[in-house]
Amino acid sequence: MSQGLFLTFEGPDGGGKTTQITRLAERLTVQGYTVTRTREPGGDLVGEKVRDLLLHGAVSPEAELLLFAAARAQNVEAVVRPALEAGHVVLCDRFTDSTIAYQGYGRGLPLDLIARLNAFATRGLMPDKTFLLDLPPATGLSRQRASEQDRLDRETLDFHQRVRSGFLETVKADPDRIAVLDASRPALDIADRLWAILEPLLPPLTTVS
Ligand code: TMP
Repeated sequence: MSQGLFLTFEGPDGGGKTTQITRLAERLTVQGYTVTRTREPGGDLVGEKVRDLLLHGAVSPEAELLLFAAARAQNVEAVVRPALEAGHVVLCDRFTDSTIAYQGYGRGLPLDLIARLNAFATRGLMPDKTFLLDLPPATGLSRQRASEQDRLDRETLDFHQRVRSGFLETVKADPDRIAVLDASRPALDIADRLWAILEPLLPPLTTVS
């Protein structure tokens, strides 16, 4: 449907997603690709407002799931699809796998319902490649300052352990799409490994605007 490339980044907070996305965006731009960077929840004005509600409001588990889905639907339509259609490489910080891990495995909400909501919100759009920056939850949480923590970060260690198993289950379900990167490695090593996996997937520069 498009000539762009859709890449998503998953894993716990404190796993270095932002660092890797920033580094990769620079590298791709230097090579001549046009990069669109977005995040979930977030992306555009509506998504960022939903983000604020989700991360700092008192939200029930059911409302939380629906708000993440709403933010996703908005991000896909307003940011991701237009960028892919324009031939960009889209880097999205979190996507459908986060909902499976956090709301499915973390909160225990029904996985079949989450699969349907993900499909509805994205209208079937799947990432071309997903990078899971995997890290034991205690390490991820210890890398964060308390002031940086959102409502979900402040959940119990047990919750974060379920989230990690949830992410690892998504890998089992879709091993060709999701590449696991050891987030306890130095950032430069992770970036090299990521690039080695990504490089063969990059579209020829002539087809990218
Ligand atoms: P971030 O801090 O990586 O931007 O992610 C925001 C928080 O939202 C993080 O704690 C994970 C959580 N989250 C979910 O629980 N479900 C989702 O579907 C998404 C996208 C994020």
